[in-house]
Amino acid sequence: MEIDIRQAVLDNCSYGLYVVTSHRDGKLNGQISDALMQVTACPPTVAVSINKTELTHEYIAASGAFAVSVLSRQADMAFIGHFGFHSGRDLDKFDTIPYKPGKTGCPLVEKNAVAVFEAKVISTLDLGTHTLFVGEVLDGEELSGERVLTYHYYQQHMKGKASKNAPSYHEEKKTDLVAVGDGKYACDVCGYIYDPAKGDPDHGIKPGTKFEDIPEGWVCPVCGVGKDEFSPCQPVASATGKYICETCGWVYDPAKGDPQGGVAPGIKFSDLPDDWVCPVCRMGKGEFAPLEK
Ligand SMILES: Cc1cc2nc3c(=O)[nH]c(=O)nc-3n(C[C@H](O)[C@H](O)[C@H](O)COP(=O)(O)O)c2cc1C
Repeated sequence: MEIDIRQAVLDNCSYGLYVVTSHRDGKLNGQISDALMQVTACPPTVAVSINKTELTHEYIAASGAFAVSVLSRQADMAFIGHFGFHSGRDLDKFDTIPYKPGKTGCPLVEKNAVAVFEAKVISTLDLGTHTLFVGEVLDGEELSGERVLTYHYYQQHMKGKASKNAPSYHEEKKTDLVAVGDGKYACDVCGYIYDPAKGDPDHGIKPGTKFEDIPEGWVCPVCGVGKDEFSPCQPVASATGKYICETCGWVYDPAKGDPQGGVAPGIKFSDLPDDWVCPVCRMGKGEFAPLEK
């Protein structure tokens, strides 16, 4: 029997999400990476796997340095799309993103970051499609106590995807794009969800506009692909109607509701107000997953 090694095995690995930046000849660039980890303590070193086709790869190879922003859950899809679905060859990513110049010359992106650090490259390993850059951490700063953004959270709760150059990328079937229905459409490339109730006011699409009525020239605000790359969302069905809090394990049962939180028995999970929180750990609805048994 053939085993899909990636799905069966490697998807169990844990990752964070980072902005990795570098510079060359006075120009700055950065990209999203999940393939980053600390590899020694003394001296402190980290390794990051960067695709050879990326502009950031060129800059790290040229400058021998990179900076890393450890992203928090404050980071939204548009921010991740800016660094992770567009190349610095097509736009100046630092035109719109504030940064602090680091000691190595790499830009430090503090927006949406719990910590930033910079490193000088001390070793490289050619991995074919990617180069593994090992860097000694020279300086860094913790910025906030926010929760870090994990790749798991990005995939499960933000419904985000990796782009093709990520080591963890794999082509997903469109049916993997489960999300609530209500006229919503999901981008098959990055996972952005168009919600007609919200529209896309930053790009001229008023709230209340059906996906079908969006003009053809409109593009995904996260990764820039056209309307034909979108699929209608399937309503998420928890077979039992129950949802489990992934933080503390408390189960929302519609038959019981959450009377102490003002939710009467009989209310479906999807109808809970957006500001409703888990009565045990106070996490929001985004922390809940369908409970199938
Ligand atoms: C969630 C996510 C994770 C990613 N992880 C990596 C990674 O670990 N290594 C990598 O080389 N590219 C990764 N990418 C892809 C790059 O961020 C992307 O190709 C970017 O557009 C490269 O930009 P650049 O050409 O300006 O350097 C990832 C993208 C996303 C959205």
